[in-house]
Amino acid sequence: MEFMLDTADAQAVKELSSVISVFGVTTNPTIITKSGKAPEQVAQEMLEVLSEDQAFFMQSIATDFEGIMTDARKICSLRPKNMYVKIPVTPAGLRAIKAAKAEGLGVLATAIYSADEAFLAAMNGADYLAPYVNRMCNYGDGIQQVSDLLDMLAVNGLESKVVAASFKNSGQVHDIMHLGAHAVTVSPDIVWAIIDHPGTQIAVDEFSTAWKSSFGRSTFAA
Ligand code: E4P
Repeated sequence: MEFMLDTADAQAVKELSSVISVFGVTTNPTIITKSGKAPEQVAQEMLEVLSEDQAFFMQSIATDFEGIMTDARKICSLRPKNMYVKIPVTPAGLRAIKAAKAEGLGVLATAIYSADEAFLAAMNGADYLAPYVNRMCNYGDGIQQVSDLLDMLAVNGLESKVVAASFKNSGQVHDIMHLGAHAVTVSPDIVWAIIDHPGTQIAVDEFSTAWKSSFGRSTFAA
C-alpha cells in the first residue's frame, strides 16, 4: 500500500517522512489556496523536501480540454519523474485524461464521487483514481463505493491504482486500508491522530516509571 500525505505544508511532509513511510504528497487547489502561498512556492518547497522517489501530485485548474492539457503539461514538467497531474473527472477531464496518457504524462483522476466515474477514468488509462471517501458518504456509503471499485478494477484487469482521499477521521482511513486499497492520501492532522495514540504514550510512561523506580535509570543499560 502507498501511504500519501494530502497537504501543501512541506515542513509537515519533512517531519512525517522521518517518522513513517511516505510514498508521496497530493495537493489540491483548496489546500494550496489555504496555505496562503503561491502555487509555484508550494511546488518549490515540496520538491525540496521530497526525495526523487517520492511522488508529487498537483491539480489542473482549467476546466476546458485545451486548458487542462496545458496545465497538465506544465505540472508534469516540474520534475523529471514521479510527477503527476490531478485531473477532475468531468467530461472534459475524462477526455484530457485519455489525451494526457497518450502523451505519456502521469495522471491521477480526481474529484471522484462514484465507483462508476472512477471506472471510466481507469478505462482511459489513469494511473491513479482518487475517490472522495468522506464526501461520497454524504451521498451514500463511500466505503462501499471504494470496495466496489476495487472489485471492478480487479474483475476487468484494469491497472489503475485507487488512492482513496477526502477523509474526515482515522476510522475512515482504517476502513479503506482494511479493504486493501492501493493507496490512501491523508492530511497530516489525521496521520498524527493515528500515530500519536494516547494509549501508547500512557503505556510507555508506565514502562518508564516502573524501570526508573526499580533500576534508577531511564535507559536499558546502565
Ligand atoms: C485529495 O487528493 C483530495 O483533493 C482531497 O483529499 C479532498 O479532501 P476534502 O474532501 O477534505 O477536501
